Amino acid sequence: MKHIIGVVGAGTMGAGIAQVAAQAGHRVVLTDTNPDQLLRAEQQINSSLEKLVQKGKVTAENAATIQQNLSYSTQLSDHSEAHLVIEAIVENLAVKHQVFEQLEQAVSQTCILASNTSSLSIASIGACLKDASRFLGIHFFNPATLMPLVEVIPGVATSATCTAQIEGLINGWHKTVVVCKDTPGFIVNRVARPFYGEALRIYEEGIADFATIDWAMTQLGGFKMGPFTLMDYIGNDINYTVTETVFAAFYFDPRFKPSFTQKRHMEAGFLGRKTGRGFYDYAEGSALLKPSTDSVLGQEIFERILVMLINEAADAVLMQVGSPAAIDLAMTKGVNYPKGLLAWADELGASWVLERLEKLFAEYGEDRYRPNALLRRKAHEQSKFIL
Ligand SMILES: NC(=O)c1ccc[n+]([C@@H]2O[C@H](COP(=O)([O-])OP(=O)(O)OC[C@H]3O[C@@H](n4cnc5c(N)ncnc54)[C@H](O)[C@@H]3O)[C@@H](O)[C@H]2O)c1
Repeated sequence: MKHIIGVVGAGTMGAGIAQVAAQAGHRVVLTDTNPDQLLRAEQQINSSLEKLVQKGKVTAENAATIQQNLSYSTQLSDHSEAHLVIEAIVENLAVKHQVFEQLEQAVSQTCILASNTSSLSIASIGACLKDASRFLGIHFFNPATLMPLVEVIPGVATSATCTAQIEGLINGWHKTVVVCKDTPGFIVNRVARPFYGEALRIYEEGIADFATIDWAMTQLGGFKMGPFTLMDYIGNDINYTVTETVFAAFYFDPRFKPSFTQKRHMEAGFLGRKTGRGFYDYAEGSALLKPSTDSVLGQEIFERILVMLINEAADAVLMQVGSPAAIDLAMTKGVNYPKGLLAWADELGASWVLERLEKLFAEYGEDRYRPNALLRRKAHEQSKFIL
């Protein structure tokens, strides 16, 4: 069924989400307080559609219909007929509250309201609404047009019907939907933390350099990008801030402790590709760092990061953030992991993973390495995560 979809905020995420909804055949109203931003979003969407036509992925006729179905406005009142409005404005709770209070006045009583927030809780955003049962999180990944994963996050007040309706709707947008609990980082931004954090820790201890760690994770682990290449791609400012936010939100659990190395790179303006220098130098002619290709060292690095990732995925299952299948789907579709972490644990055996974590825990004596209770249970029972 085709609906009218509203998107508030025409920045990086809002423009992409509007395009995804329009490509799914809906009429879309994209609003922003900044008219220049609306113009930029319109140009960006049009040029993206043009490219899709050139590649033969969309017919010219279809692209024209999509363009006709999209409208741009500076007025929140233009969402009055919407079936669903997704907010994608600045990550600031006070500003989001202002927008949702106005939006609730503008829309019909049956309209579903959603936020694309990455780091605020759904409960805290929805608290400003008179009826929070029709409010939830719909978390797209950047770029929204390309990344298949969408996390759907009901808050404590969200009704089951609202979640089910949105799950069904977004599934029809050629996206993979996973439903997850309203906990910090949801699934992906929580479970992925050790990919960066443990890699930084290994570097900080002088065990290996950036290039060697990236080599181990790509060549031995099968990941598409190594952690340092990926942090440079995401931007050290963004990636560091996510880690710091998740760390604080988990009451400073040492598992999520941010790294001084990444902070110093951020402070120095070594943000990654966007500034021409991050962990690597992207200036033309700069020498490529050569990894050591010592396979024993590489295997040790890969296994250490992998068991930390599996431990985090096991914790997300234990705390019911998502089902094992949802967590594996999220990591393969949201961050392109070569395998689901829990299926990987099943393949290696929970006792194999536990043994390595126990070794790290015994060596360092740090809470960061404590093996998860569910992992222990699986090892003890010799059972699998994915049934
Ligand atoms: N950028 C990412 O990789 C990413 C990924 C997933 C989720 N998110 C989340 O999506 C949201 C938007 O992020 P973004 O990166 O697209 O931000 P952005 O800065 O690119 O865009 C934000 C837009 O909101 C507009 N805006 C600000 N205040 C407004 C208001 N009161 N009313 C209407 N429009 C207003 C701005 O003009 C701007 O165009 C945030 O909550 C962020 O956490 C971002």
